[in-house]
Amino acid sequence: MYRTHTCGALNAKNIGQTVTLSGWVQKIRDLGAVIFIDLRDRYGITQLSFNEENKAILEEARKLGREFVIQAKGKVVERSSKNNKIPTGDIEILVDELRVLNQAKTPPFTIEDQTDGGEELRMKYRYLDIRRNPVKNNLIFRSKVSQLVRNYLAGEGFIDVETPYLIKSTPEGARDFVVPSRMHPGHFYALPQSPQTFKQLLMVGGIDKYMQIVKCFRDEDLRADRQPEFTQIDCEMSFIEQEDILNTFEGLTKHLLKEIHGLELADFPRISYEEAMRRYGNDKPDIRFGMVFGDLTQAAQGKGFKVFDQQEAILGIAVPGAAGYTRKQIDKITDWVKRPQIGAKGLVYVKYNGDGSFKSSVDKFYNHDDLVQWAEITGAKPGDLILVLSGDLTPTRTQLSALRMEMAEQLGLRKPNEFAPVWVVDFPLLEWDEESRRFHAMHHPFTAPKPEDAHLLDTKPGKVRANAYDLVLNGNEIGGGSIRIHDKAMQAKMLGLLGFSDAEAKKQFGFLMDAFEYGAPPHGGLAFGLDRLVAILGGQEIIRDFIAFPKNNAGRDVMIEAPDTISPEQLEELHLRITE
Ligand code: AMO
Repeated sequence: MYRTHTCGALNAKNIGQTVTLSGWVQKIRDLGAVIFIDLRDRYGITQLSFNEENKAILEEARKLGREFVIQAKGKVVERSSKNNKIPTGDIEILVDELRVLNQAKTPPFTIEDQTDGGEELRMKYRYLDIRRNPVKNNLIFRSKVSQLVRNYLAGEGFIDVETPYLIKSTPEGARDFVVPSRMHPGHFYALPQSPQTFKQLLMVGGIDKYMQIVKCFRDEDLRADRQPEFTQIDCEMSFIEQEDILNTFEGLTKHLLKEIHGLELADFPRISYEEAMRRYGNDKPDIRFGMVFGDLTQAAQGKGFKVFDQQEAILGIAVPGAAGYTRKQIDKITDWVKRPQIGAKGLVYVKYNGDGSFKSSVDKFYNHDDLVQWAEITGAKPGDLILVLSGDLTPTRTQLSALRMEMAEQLGLRKPNEFAPVWVVDFPLLEWDEESRRFHAMHHPFTAPKPEDAHLLDTKPGKVRANAYDLVLNGNEIGGGSIRIHDKAMQAKMLGLLGFSDAEAKKQFGFLMDAFEYGAPPHGGLAFGLDRLVAILGGQEIIRDFIAFPKNNAGRDVMIEAPDTISPEQLEELHLRITE
Protein backbone atom coordinates (compact mmCIF):
# COMPACT_ATOMS: atom_id res chain seq x y z
CA MET A 1 0.00 0.00 0.00
CA TYR A 2 1.50 3.32 -1.08
CA ARG A 3 -0.50 5.48 1.30
CA THR A 4 -3.03 5.35 4.10
CA HIS A 5 -3.86 9.05 3.79
CA THR A 6 -3.27 11.91 1.39
CA CYS A 7 -1.02 14.86 2.20
CA GLY A 8 -4.04 17.07 2.86
CA ALA A 9 -5.93 14.78 5.21
CA LEU A 10 -4.25 14.67 8.61
CA ASN A 11 -4.92 16.97 11.54
CA ALA A 12 -4.85 17.00 15.34
CA LYS A 13 -7.51 14.25 15.47
CA ASN A 14 -4.98 11.83 13.97
CA ILE A 15 -2.32 12.41 16.64
CA GLY A 16 -0.90 9.08 17.79
CA GLN A 17 -1.82 7.18 14.61
CA THR A 18 0.75 5.47 12.43
CA VAL A 19 0.29 6.54 8.82
CA THR A 20 1.91 6.16 5.41
CA LEU A 21 2.07 9.03 2.92
CA SER A 22 3.36 9.24 -0.64
CA GLY A 23 4.16 12.36 -2.60
CA TRP A 24 6.73 14.82 -3.86
CA VAL A 25 9.40 16.56 -1.83
CA GLN A 26 8.42 20.21 -1.93
CA LYS A 27 10.93 21.68 0.50
CA ILE A 28 13.78 20.44 2.70
CA ARG A 29 14.92 22.31 5.80
CA ASP A 30 18.09 20.75 7.18
CA LEU A 31 18.80 22.07 10.68
CA GLY A 32 21.57 19.52 11.38
CA ALA A 33 20.04 17.50 14.17
CA VAL A 34 16.58 17.68 12.62
CA ILE A 35 15.33 17.75 9.05
CA PHE A 36 11.87 18.95 8.06
CA ILE A 37 10.42 18.01 4.70
CA ASP A 38 7.24 19.35 3.16
CA LEU A 39 5.62 16.44 1.35
CA ARG A 40 3.17 17.42 -1.38
CA ASP A 41 0.47 15.69 -3.35
CA ARG A 42 -2.68 16.87 -5.11
CA TYR A 43 -4.47 17.27 -1.79
CA GLY A 44 -2.02 19.36 0.18
CA ILE A 45 1.22 19.44 2.12
CA THR A 46 2.20 17.53 5.24
CA GLN A 47 5.36 18.13 7.22
CA LEU A 48 7.65 15.15 7.75
CA SER A 49 10.21 15.33 10.52
CA PHE A 50 13.41 13.36 10.98
CA ASN A 51 15.66 13.60 14.05
CA GLU A 52 18.72 12.13 15.69
CA GLU A 53 16.75 9.49 17.57
CA ASN A 54 16.79 7.62 14.27
CA LYS A 55 20.16 8.55 12.79
CA ALA A 56 19.99 6.14 9.84
CA ILE A 57 16.74 7.65 8.59
CA LEU A 58 18.04 11.17 9.21
CA GLU A 59 20.94 10.39 6.88
CA GLU A 60 18.58 8.95 4.26
CA ALA A 61 16.46 12.08 4.41
CA ARG A 62 19.59 14.18 3.87
CA LYS A 63 20.06 12.50 0.46
CA LEU A 64 16.65 13.56 -0.84
CA GLY A 65 16.22 16.35 -3.35
CA ARG A 66 13.38 18.58 -4.46
CA GLU A 67 10.63 16.75 -6.35
CA PHE A 68 11.86 13.28 -5.38
CA VAL A 69 8.88 10.93 -5.11
CA ILE A 70 8.94 9.28 -1.69
CA GLN A 71 6.93 7.16 0.66
CA ALA A 72 7.13 7.86 4.38
CA LYS A 73 5.71 5.93 7.30
CA GLY A 74 5.57 7.24 10.81
CA LYS A 75 3.58 8.53 13.73
CA VAL A 76 1.40 11.63 13.65
CA VAL A 77 2.62 14.00 16.37
CA GLU A 78 1.71 17.49 17.45
CA ARG A 79 3.93 20.19 15.96
CA SER A 80 5.82 22.45 18.29
CA SER A 81 5.47 25.45 15.97
CA LYS A 82 2.09 25.29 14.28
CA ASN A 83 1.24 26.62 10.82
CA ASN A 84 -2.33 27.89 10.77
CA LYS A 85 -2.19 28.60 7.04
CA ILE A 86 -2.63 24.94 6.03
CA PRO A 87 -5.16 22.35 7.23
CA THR A 88 -2.39 19.94 8.29
CA GLY A 89 -0.48 22.68 10.12
CA ASP A 90 -1.05 21.35 13.63
CA ILE A 91 0.74 18.07 13.07
CA GLU A 92 3.79 16.46 11.55
CA ILE A 93 4.88 12.89 10.84
CA LEU A 94 7.81 11.56 12.83
CA VAL A 95 9.18 9.33 10.09
CA ASP A 96 10.60 5.89 10.86
CA GLU A 97 10.47 4.32 7.39
CA LEU A 98 11.45 6.13 4.21
CA ARG A 99 11.43 4.82 0.66
CA VAL A 100 12.50 6.67 -2.45
CA LEU A 101 9.97 5.76 -5.15
CA ASN A 102 11.71 7.84 -7.80
CA GLN A 103 14.45 10.42 -8.03
CA ALA A 104 14.05 13.77 -9.75
CA LYS A 105 16.36 16.17 -11.51
CA THR A 106 16.25 19.68 -10.11
CA PRO A 107 13.18 21.22 -11.78
CA PRO A 108 13.87 24.06 -14.24
CA PHE A 109 11.62 26.38 -12.22
CA THR A 110 10.37 26.43 -8.66
CA ILE A 111 7.20 24.45 -8.01
CA GLU A 112 5.64 27.21 -5.93
CA ASP A 113 2.49 29.30 -6.29
CA GLN A 114 4.71 32.23 -7.31
CA THR A 115 7.23 30.54 -9.57
CA ASP A 116 10.40 31.92 -11.10
CA GLY A 117 9.65 30.16 -14.41
CA GLY A 118 8.68 32.16 -17.51
CA GLU A 119 5.65 31.21 -19.62
CA GLU A 120 7.59 29.40 -22.37
CA LEU A 121 9.63 27.34 -19.89
CA ARG A 122 6.52 26.38 -17.96
CA MET A 123 4.79 25.34 -21.19
CA LYS A 124 7.77 23.15 -22.13
CA TYR A 125 7.54 21.41 -18.76
CA ARG A 126 3.79 21.65 -18.44
CA TYR A 127 3.65 18.47 -16.32
CA LEU A 128 5.74 20.29 -13.70
CA ASP A 129 3.62 23.41 -14.01
CA ILE A 130 0.54 21.27 -13.33
CA ARG A 131 2.07 20.37 -9.93
CA ARG A 132 1.72 24.04 -8.95
CA ASN A 133 -1.45 25.03 -7.11
CA PRO A 134 -2.65 27.78 -9.51
CA VAL A 135 -2.60 25.43 -12.51
CA LYS A 136 -3.80 22.36 -10.63
CA ASN A 137 -6.66 24.29 -9.05
CA ASN A 138 -7.73 25.61 -12.45
CA LEU A 139 -7.95 22.04 -13.76
CA ILE A 140 -9.94 20.95 -10.73
CA PHE A 141 -12.22 23.96 -11.21
CA ARG A 142 -12.72 23.11 -14.88
CA SER A 143 -13.61 19.54 -13.98
CA LYS A 144 -16.17 20.82 -11.48
CA VAL A 145 -17.77 23.14 -14.05
CA SER A 146 -17.99 20.33 -16.65
CA GLN A 147 -19.58 18.04 -14.09
CA LEU A 148 -22.17 20.65 -13.13
CA VAL A 149 -22.98 21.28 -16.80
CA ARG A 150 -23.39 17.59 -17.53
CA ASN A 151 -25.59 16.98 -14.53
CA TYR A 152 -27.75 20.00 -15.23
CA LEU A 153 -28.32 19.16 -18.88
CA ALA A 154 -28.90 15.48 -18.12
CA GLY A 155 -31.55 16.63 -15.64
CA GLU A 156 -33.16 18.65 -18.42
CA GLY A 157 -33.38 15.54 -20.61
CA PHE A 158 -30.43 16.14 -22.92
CA ILE A 159 -28.75 13.10 -24.48
CA ASP A 160 -24.98 13.10 -24.80
CA VAL A 161 -24.08 11.98 -28.33
CA GLU A 162 -20.57 11.85 -29.78
CA THR A 163 -20.08 13.16 -33.30
CA PRO A 164 -17.10 12.36 -35.53
CA TYR A 165 -13.81 14.25 -35.67
CA LEU A 166 -12.87 13.13 -39.17
CA ILE A 167 -15.40 14.98 -41.25
CA LYS A 168 -15.45 17.29 -44.18
CA SER A 169 -15.17 21.00 -44.01
CA THR A 170 -18.02 22.92 -42.32
CA PRO A 171 -17.57 26.62 -42.89
CA GLU A 172 -17.92 28.55 -39.62
CA GLY A 173 -15.71 31.45 -40.47
CA ALA A 174 -12.29 30.03 -39.67
CA ARG A 175 -9.90 27.84 -41.65
CA ASP A 176 -10.09 24.08 -41.26
CA PHE A 177 -7.36 21.80 -40.02
CA VAL A 178 -7.22 19.03 -42.59
CA VAL A 179 -6.14 15.40 -42.36
CA PRO A 180 -4.89 13.70 -45.51
CA SER A 181 -6.44 10.35 -46.33
CA ARG A 182 -4.08 7.42 -46.96
CA MET A 183 -6.75 5.28 -48.56
CA HIS A 184 -8.13 7.99 -50.81
CA PRO A 185 -5.28 9.71 -52.63
CA GLY A 186 -5.71 13.46 -52.89
CA HIS A 187 -8.65 13.46 -50.48
CA PHE A 188 -8.77 15.05 -47.07
CA TYR A 189 -10.81 14.91 -43.95
CA ALA A 190 -11.31 18.13 -42.04
CA LEU A 191 -11.43 18.38 -38.27
CA PRO A 192 -14.74 19.92 -37.18
CA GLN A 193 -14.86 23.64 -36.39
CA SER A 194 -17.94 22.54 -34.47
CA PRO A 195 -20.38 19.62 -34.73
CA GLN A 196 -22.91 21.99 -36.34
CA THR A 197 -24.20 19.89 -39.23
CA PHE A 198 -24.11 16.67 -37.24
CA LYS A 199 -26.19 18.04 -34.42
CA GLN A 200 -28.73 19.21 -36.97
CA LEU A 201 -28.75 15.71 -38.46
CA LEU A 202 -29.35 14.34 -34.96
CA MET A 203 -32.47 16.50 -34.86
CA VAL A 204 -33.59 14.96 -38.14
CA GLY A 205 -32.82 11.65 -36.42
CA GLY A 206 -35.32 12.50 -33.69
CA ILE A 207 -32.82 13.04 -30.81
CA ASP A 208 -34.68 16.16 -29.77
CA LYS A 209 -32.31 17.33 -27.04
CA TYR A 210 -28.64 16.77 -27.80
CA MET A 211 -25.60 17.83 -25.81
CA GLN A 212 -21.92 17.12 -26.05
CA ILE A 213 -18.82 18.52 -24.38
CA VAL A 214 -16.69 18.39 -27.47
CA LYS A 215 -13.36 19.44 -28.93
CA CYS A 216 -13.51 21.83 -31.88
CA PHE A 217 -10.67 22.84 -34.17
CA ARG A 218 -10.14 26.17 -35.88
CA ASP A 219 -7.05 27.33 -37.72
CA GLU A 220 -7.26 31.00 -36.81
CA ASP A 221 -5.06 33.67 -35.26
CA LEU A 222 -4.69 33.11 -31.56
CA ARG A 223 -5.53 35.44 -28.72
CA ALA A 224 -5.94 35.21 -24.97
CA ASP A 225 -9.46 33.85 -25.50
CA ARG A 226 -8.76 31.64 -28.50
CA GLN A 227 -7.02 28.31 -28.92
CA PRO A 228 -6.76 26.25 -32.13
CA GLU A 229 -8.41 23.37 -30.32
CA PHE A 230 -10.93 24.29 -27.71
CA THR A 231 -14.00 22.78 -26.09
CA GLN A 232 -17.65 23.56 -26.61
CA ILE A 233 -20.69 22.71 -24.57
CA ASP A 234 -22.65 21.99 -27.72
CA CYS A 235 -26.44 21.69 -27.70
CA GLU A 236 -29.36 21.41 -30.07
CA MET A 237 -33.11 21.12 -29.51
CA SER A 238 -36.16 20.39 -31.67
CA PHE A 239 -39.68 21.81 -31.55
CA ILE A 240 -38.48 24.90 -29.74
CA GLU A 241 -38.35 28.62 -30.29
CA GLN A 242 -35.56 31.03 -29.47
CA GLU A 243 -37.20 31.71 -26.10
CA ASP A 244 -36.91 28.05 -25.06
CA ILE A 245 -33.20 27.97 -25.85
CA LEU A 246 -32.46 31.22 -24.04
CA ASN A 247 -34.40 30.01 -21.00
CA THR A 248 -32.64 26.65 -20.89
CA PHE A 249 -29.15 28.11 -21.10
CA GLU A 250 -29.90 31.04 -18.86
CA GLY A 251 -31.03 28.39 -16.38
CA LEU A 252 -27.73 26.55 -16.81
CA THR A 253 -25.67 29.73 -16.36
CA LYS A 254 -27.62 30.75 -13.26
CA HIS A 255 -27.15 27.25 -11.86
CA LEU A 256 -23.38 27.48 -12.38
CA LEU A 257 -23.14 30.90 -10.73
CA LYS A 258 -25.20 29.64 -7.80
CA GLU A 259 -23.23 26.44 -7.30
CA ILE A 260 -19.83 28.01 -7.81
CA HIS A 261 -20.17 31.48 -6.34
CA GLY A 262 -23.39 31.25 -4.33
CA LEU A 263 -24.88 34.02 -6.47
CA GLU A 264 -28.58 34.32 -7.23
CA LEU A 265 -28.78 36.26 -10.46
CA ALA A 266 -31.87 38.08 -11.71
CA ASP A 267 -33.11 37.38 -15.23
CA PHE A 268 -30.44 38.26 -17.75
CA PRO A 269 -30.98 41.51 -19.66
CA ARG A 270 -31.36 41.23 -23.42
CA ILE A 271 -30.27 43.80 -25.93
CA SER A 272 -30.40 43.74 -29.69
CA TYR A 273 -27.24 43.66 -31.74
CA GLU A 274 -28.15 47.08 -33.06
CA GLU A 275 -28.49 48.50 -29.56
CA ALA A 276 -25.27 46.85 -28.38
CA MET A 277 -23.40 48.48 -31.25
CA ARG A 278 -25.03 51.84 -30.60
CA ARG A 279 -24.54 51.88 -26.82
CA TYR A 280 -21.23 50.04 -26.50
CA GLY A 281 -19.76 49.95 -30.03
CA ASN A 282 -19.39 46.24 -29.60
CA ASP A 283 -21.47 43.06 -29.82
CA LYS A 284 -20.01 41.73 -26.58
CA PRO A 285 -20.49 44.57 -24.14
CA ASP A 286 -19.14 44.45 -20.62
CA ILE A 287 -22.10 45.83 -18.66
CA ARG A 288 -20.49 45.64 -15.22
CA PHE A 289 -20.02 49.40 -15.56
CA GLY A 290 -21.64 52.29 -17.43
CA MET A 291 -19.79 54.63 -19.80
CA VAL A 292 -22.54 54.08 -22.36
CA PHE A 293 -21.86 55.84 -25.67
CA GLY A 294 -23.45 59.21 -26.28
CA ASP A 295 -23.97 60.24 -29.89
CA LEU A 296 -22.71 63.82 -30.15
CA THR A 297 -22.81 64.02 -33.95
CA GLN A 298 -25.71 66.45 -34.16
CA ALA A 299 -24.81 68.46 -31.09
CA ALA A 300 -21.16 68.93 -32.03
CA GLN A 301 -21.45 69.76 -35.70
CA GLY A 302 -21.99 73.19 -37.21
CA LYS A 303 -20.13 75.05 -34.48
CA GLY A 304 -17.06 75.87 -36.50
CA PHE A 305 -14.90 72.94 -35.43
CA LYS A 306 -13.89 71.64 -38.87
CA VAL A 307 -12.51 68.32 -37.69
CA PHE A 308 -15.94 67.34 -36.35
CA ASP A 309 -17.95 68.87 -39.19
CA GLN A 310 -16.38 66.45 -41.65
CA GLN A 311 -17.07 63.27 -39.70
CA GLU A 312 -19.77 60.68 -40.05
CA ALA A 313 -19.90 60.08 -36.31
CA ILE A 314 -18.87 61.87 -33.11
CA LEU A 315 -19.19 59.62 -30.08
CA GLY A 316 -18.37 60.17 -26.43
CA ILE A 317 -18.26 58.46 -23.07
CA ALA A 318 -18.32 59.90 -19.56
CA VAL A 319 -15.49 58.44 -17.50
CA PRO A 320 -16.70 58.49 -13.89
CA GLY A 321 -14.76 60.63 -11.46
CA ALA A 322 -11.94 61.37 -13.89
CA ALA A 323 -12.37 65.16 -14.29
CA GLY A 324 -9.30 65.62 -12.13
CA TYR A 325 -7.02 63.88 -14.64
CA THR A 326 -3.85 65.88 -15.27
CA ARG A 327 -2.70 67.05 -18.66
CA LYS A 328 -0.10 64.30 -18.56
CA GLN A 329 -2.70 61.61 -17.87
CA ILE A 330 -4.90 62.84 -20.73
CA ASP A 331 -1.90 62.98 -23.07
CA LYS A 332 -1.24 59.36 -22.18
CA ILE A 333 -4.80 58.39 -23.09
CA THR A 334 -4.47 60.34 -26.34
CA ASP A 335 -1.28 58.45 -27.20
CA TRP A 336 -3.06 55.22 -26.33
CA VAL A 337 -5.95 55.81 -28.76
CA LYS A 338 -3.51 56.89 -31.47
CA ARG A 339 -1.55 53.63 -31.32
CA PRO A 340 -1.84 51.71 -34.61
CA GLN A 341 -3.74 48.91 -32.80
CA ILE A 342 -6.52 51.40 -31.97
CA GLY A 343 -6.04 53.82 -34.84
CA ALA A 344 -7.88 56.96 -33.68
CA LYS A 345 -6.65 60.21 -35.16
CA GLY A 346 -7.07 62.21 -31.98
CA LEU A 347 -9.03 62.62 -28.79
CA VAL A 348 -11.21 65.48 -27.57
CA TYR A 349 -11.79 65.78 -23.84
CA VAL A 350 -14.17 67.74 -21.66
CA LYS A 351 -13.62 67.98 -17.91
CA TYR A 352 -16.93 68.41 -16.13
CA ASN A 353 -15.61 69.91 -12.93
CA GLY A 354 -17.12 69.32 -9.53
CA ASP A 355 -18.33 72.96 -9.40
CA GLY A 356 -20.33 72.50 -12.62
CA SER A 357 -17.84 74.35 -14.86
CA PHE A 358 -16.24 72.83 -17.95
CA LYS A 359 -12.71 72.75 -19.26
CA SER A 360 -12.24 71.17 -22.67
CA SER A 361 -9.70 70.81 -25.44
CA VAL A 362 -12.21 72.51 -27.78
CA ASP A 363 -13.19 75.51 -25.63
CA LYS A 364 -12.69 77.75 -28.66
CA PHE A 365 -15.69 76.23 -30.42
CA TYR A 366 -18.09 75.17 -27.72
CA ASN A 367 -19.58 77.33 -24.97
CA HIS A 368 -20.94 76.29 -21.58
CA ASP A 369 -24.42 75.51 -22.92
CA ASP A 370 -22.99 73.32 -25.69
CA LEU A 371 -21.02 71.36 -23.15
CA VAL A 372 -24.02 71.02 -20.84
CA GLN A 373 -25.71 69.34 -23.79
CA TRP A 374 -22.71 67.05 -24.30
CA ALA A 375 -22.90 66.10 -20.64
CA GLU A 376 -26.58 65.29 -20.97
CA ILE A 377 -26.00 63.15 -24.04
CA THR A 378 -23.13 61.19 -22.50
CA GLY A 379 -24.75 61.04 -19.05
CA ALA A 380 -21.80 62.86 -17.48
CA LYS A 381 -22.06 64.16 -13.92
CA PRO A 382 -19.92 66.82 -12.26
CA GLY A 383 -16.53 65.21 -11.60
CA ASP A 384 -16.57 63.12 -14.81
CA LEU A 385 -14.31 63.33 -17.82
CA ILE A 386 -15.96 63.16 -21.25
CA LEU A 387 -13.79 61.54 -23.92
CA VAL A 388 -14.80 62.00 -27.56
CA LEU A 389 -13.69 60.24 -30.74
CA SER A 390 -14.84 60.93 -34.27
CA GLY A 391 -14.58 59.47 -37.76
CA ASP A 392 -16.47 56.92 -39.83
CA LEU A 393 -19.14 55.25 -37.73
CA THR A 394 -17.86 51.67 -37.62
CA PRO A 395 -14.19 52.34 -36.80
CA THR A 396 -15.13 55.08 -34.32
CA ARG A 397 -17.37 52.66 -32.48
CA THR A 398 -14.59 50.08 -32.38
CA GLN A 399 -12.06 52.63 -31.13
CA LEU A 400 -14.33 54.07 -28.45
CA SER A 401 -15.27 50.58 -27.35
CA ALA A 402 -11.58 49.78 -26.84
CA LEU A 403 -11.11 53.05 -24.97
CA ARG A 404 -14.13 52.29 -22.77
CA MET A 405 -12.61 48.94 -21.79
CA GLU A 406 -9.21 50.52 -21.19
CA MET A 407 -10.66 53.21 -18.92
CA ALA A 408 -12.67 50.57 -17.04
CA GLU A 409 -9.48 48.57 -16.59
CA GLN A 410 -7.58 51.63 -15.35
CA LEU A 411 -10.35 52.54 -12.92
CA GLY A 412 -10.68 48.98 -11.61
CA LEU A 413 -14.27 48.65 -12.85
CA ARG A 414 -13.76 45.20 -14.36
CA LYS A 415 -14.21 43.36 -11.09
CA PRO A 416 -13.49 39.64 -11.52
CA ASN A 417 -15.91 38.59 -8.77
CA GLU A 418 -18.84 40.48 -10.28
CA PHE A 419 -20.87 38.72 -12.98
CA ALA A 420 -22.94 40.63 -15.51
CA PRO A 421 -24.41 38.37 -18.19
CA VAL A 422 -26.35 39.79 -21.13
CA TRP A 423 -28.03 38.17 -24.11
CA VAL A 424 -27.32 39.93 -27.37
CA VAL A 425 -30.15 39.05 -29.77
CA ASP A 426 -31.40 39.86 -33.27
CA PHE A 427 -28.06 39.62 -35.03
CA PRO A 428 -28.06 40.45 -38.71
CA LEU A 429 -28.24 37.32 -40.86
CA LEU A 430 -25.56 38.48 -43.26
CA GLU A 431 -22.53 40.70 -43.14
CA TRP A 432 -21.09 42.45 -46.18
CA ASP A 433 -17.40 41.83 -46.76
CA GLU A 434 -15.73 44.61 -48.74
CA GLU A 435 -12.65 42.55 -49.54
CA SER A 436 -14.43 39.62 -51.21
CA ARG A 437 -17.33 41.88 -52.22
CA ARG A 438 -19.95 39.45 -51.06
CA PHE A 439 -22.11 38.55 -48.09
CA HIS A 440 -20.88 36.28 -45.33
CA ALA A 441 -23.08 34.52 -42.80
CA MET A 442 -22.82 36.49 -39.58
CA HIS A 443 -23.29 33.33 -37.50
CA HIS A 444 -23.17 30.43 -39.95
CA PRO A 445 -24.95 29.43 -43.17
CA PHE A 446 -27.53 27.30 -41.32
CA THR A 447 -29.06 30.17 -39.39
CA ALA A 448 -32.65 31.02 -40.30
CA PRO A 449 -33.80 34.54 -41.12
CA LYS A 450 -36.45 36.00 -38.83
CA PRO A 451 -39.75 35.07 -40.49
CA GLU A 452 -40.88 38.71 -40.43
CA ASP A 453 -37.69 39.78 -42.28
CA ALA A 454 -37.56 36.92 -44.80
CA HIS A 455 -39.32 39.00 -47.48
CA LEU A 456 -36.24 41.27 -47.60
CA LEU A 457 -33.93 38.41 -48.61
CA ASP A 458 -34.19 39.24 -52.31
CA THR A 459 -34.21 43.01 -52.09
CA LYS A 460 -32.22 44.04 -49.01
CA PRO A 461 -30.37 40.98 -47.72
CA GLY A 462 -28.15 43.14 -45.51
CA LYS A 463 -31.22 44.27 -43.55
CA VAL A 464 -32.47 40.78 -42.70
CA ARG A 465 -32.15 39.88 -39.03
CA ALA A 466 -31.78 36.35 -37.71
CA ASN A 467 -33.02 34.56 -34.65
CA ALA A 468 -29.38 34.41 -33.60
CA TYR A 469 -28.12 35.18 -30.12
CA ASP A 470 -24.94 35.33 -28.07
CA LEU A 471 -24.52 35.04 -24.34
CA VAL A 472 -22.01 37.64 -23.19
CA LEU A 473 -20.48 37.50 -19.72
CA ASN A 474 -18.29 40.35 -18.47
CA GLY A 475 -17.45 41.44 -22.00
CA ASN A 476 -16.67 37.96 -23.29
CA GLU A 477 -18.67 35.98 -25.82
CA ILE A 478 -19.39 32.85 -23.83
CA GLY A 479 -21.69 31.26 -26.36
CA GLY A 480 -23.78 31.69 -29.43
CA GLY A 481 -26.45 29.98 -31.42
CA SER A 482 -29.48 30.36 -33.59
CA ILE A 483 -32.71 28.95 -34.88
CA ARG A 484 -31.84 26.93 -37.99
CA ILE A 485 -33.16 26.60 -41.46
CA HIS A 486 -34.97 23.24 -41.76
CA ASP A 487 -36.25 23.60 -45.28
CA LYS A 488 -34.29 22.59 -48.34
CA ALA A 489 -35.38 25.45 -50.56
CA MET A 490 -34.53 28.06 -47.91
CA GLN A 491 -31.13 26.46 -47.28
CA ALA A 492 -30.42 26.50 -51.02
CA LYS A 493 -31.44 30.14 -51.21
CA MET A 494 -29.21 31.03 -48.29
CA LEU A 495 -26.21 29.27 -49.81
CA GLY A 496 -26.93 31.13 -53.03
CA LEU A 497 -26.83 34.46 -51.19
CA LEU A 498 -23.48 33.43 -49.75
CA GLY A 499 -22.11 32.97 -53.25
CA PHE A 500 -22.29 29.18 -53.56
CA SER A 501 -23.25 27.90 -57.00
CA ASP A 502 -25.90 25.15 -57.00
CA ALA A 503 -23.20 22.59 -57.77
CA GLU A 504 -20.94 23.80 -54.94
CA ALA A 505 -23.84 23.88 -52.50
CA LYS A 506 -24.78 20.33 -53.45
CA LYS A 507 -21.18 19.12 -53.18
CA GLN A 508 -20.61 20.65 -49.77
CA PHE A 509 -24.01 20.48 -48.14
CA GLY A 510 -25.99 18.02 -50.25
CA PHE A 511 -26.14 15.60 -47.29
CA LEU A 512 -27.83 18.21 -45.10
CA MET A 513 -30.24 19.43 -47.74
CA ASP A 514 -31.14 15.85 -48.61
CA ALA A 515 -31.86 15.20 -44.94
CA PHE A 516 -34.20 18.20 -44.89
CA GLU A 517 -36.36 16.31 -47.40
CA TYR A 518 -37.04 13.51 -44.94
CA GLY A 519 -38.99 15.30 -42.26
CA ALA A 520 -36.62 17.73 -40.55
CA PRO A 521 -38.22 19.18 -37.41
CA PRO A 522 -37.95 22.89 -36.59
CA HIS A 523 -34.82 23.16 -34.48
CA GLY A 524 -32.17 25.42 -33.03
CA GLY A 525 -29.39 25.41 -30.52
CA LEU A 526 -26.30 26.98 -29.17
CA ALA A 527 -22.77 26.29 -28.06
CA PHE A 528 -20.91 27.70 -25.09
CA GLY A 529 -17.14 27.93 -25.18
CA LEU A 530 -16.23 25.82 -22.14
CA ASP A 531 -12.69 27.19 -21.86
CA ARG A 532 -13.97 30.76 -21.83
CA LEU A 533 -16.83 30.00 -19.49
CA VAL A 534 -14.49 28.32 -17.01
CA ALA A 535 -11.93 31.14 -17.19
CA ILE A 536 -14.54 33.85 -16.62
CA LEU A 537 -16.22 31.94 -13.81
CA GLY A 538 -12.75 31.62 -12.33
CA GLY A 539 -12.39 35.41 -12.49
CA GLN A 540 -9.82 35.33 -15.31
CA GLU A 541 -9.70 35.75 -19.08
CA ILE A 542 -6.73 33.76 -20.37
CA ILE A 543 -8.15 30.41 -21.38
CA ARG A 544 -4.70 28.81 -21.73
CA ASP A 545 -4.49 28.76 -17.94
CA PHE A 546 -7.53 26.49 -17.78
CA ILE A 547 -6.35 23.97 -20.39
CA ALA A 548 -4.08 21.14 -19.29
CA PHE A 549 -1.91 21.14 -22.40
CA PRO A 550 -2.52 24.34 -24.36
CA LYS A 551 -0.82 25.66 -27.47
CA ASN A 552 1.28 28.81 -27.23
CA ASN A 553 0.45 32.01 -29.08
CA ALA A 554 2.11 30.70 -32.22
CA GLY A 555 -0.13 27.63 -32.15
CA ARG A 556 2.71 25.36 -31.02
CA ASP A 557 2.85 22.74 -28.33
CA VAL A 558 6.41 23.41 -27.16
CA MET A 559 6.39 20.36 -24.88
CA ILE A 560 5.84 17.72 -27.56
CA GLU A 561 7.11 20.03 -30.31
CA ALA A 562 4.05 20.00 -32.51
CA PRO A 563 3.48 20.69 -35.33
CA ASP A 564 6.45 18.75 -36.63
CA THR A 565 7.69 17.30 -39.91
CA ILE A 566 6.84 13.72 -40.83
CA SER A 567 9.02 11.12 -42.51
CA PRO A 568 9.28 10.84 -46.32
CA GLU A 569 7.64 7.41 -45.99
CA GLN A 570 4.63 8.86 -44.19
CA LEU A 571 4.39 11.63 -46.77
CA GLU A 572 4.44 9.11 -49.56
CA GLU A 573 1.83 6.93 -47.90
CA LEU A 574 -0.41 9.99 -47.66
CA HIS A 575 0.26 10.90 -51.29
CA LEU A 576 1.74 14.24 -50.27
CA ARG A 577 4.72 16.00 -51.71
CA ILE A 578 6.31 19.03 -50.05
CA THR A 579 7.39 21.70 -52.52
CA GLU A 580 9.61 24.52 -51.31
P1 AMO B 1 -19.48 29.84 -32.40
O1 AMO B 1 -18.56 29.84 -33.55
O2 AMO B 1 -20.06 31.13 -31.95
O3 AMO B 1 -20.74 28.93 -32.67
O4 AMO B 1 -18.76 29.15 -31.17
C1 AMO B 1 -19.41 28.98 -29.92
C2 AMO B 1 -18.52 29.43 -28.78
O5 AMO B 1 -17.27 28.75 -28.79
C3 AMO B 1 -16.26 29.58 -28.25
N1 AMO B 1 -15.13 29.67 -29.20
C4 AMO B 1 -13.84 29.53 -28.87
N2 AMO B 1 -13.25 29.33 -27.69
C5 AMO B 1 -11.92 29.22 -27.68
N3 AMO B 1 -11.13 29.28 -28.78
C6 AMO B 1 -11.67 29.48 -30.00
N4 AMO B 1 -10.89 29.52 -31.08
C7 AMO B 1 -13.09 29.63 -30.08
N5 AMO B 1 -13.97 29.83 -31.10
C8 AMO B 1 -15.19 29.85 -30.55
C9 AMO B 1 -16.89 30.94 -28.00
C10 AMO B 1 -18.11 30.89 -28.86
O6 AMO B 1 -19.14 31.71 -28.37
N6 AMO B 1 -21.91 25.81 -34.15
C11 AMO B 1 -22.07 27.13 -33.56
C12 AMO B 1 -22.99 27.12 -32.36
C13 AMO B 1 -24.45 27.02 -32.72
O7 AMO B 1 -24.91 27.74 -33.62
O8 AMO B 1 -25.14 26.23 -32.06
C14 AMO B 1 -20.71 27.65 -33.14
O9 AMO B 1 -19.72 26.97 -33.16
O10 AMO B 1 -17.23 31.04 -26.63
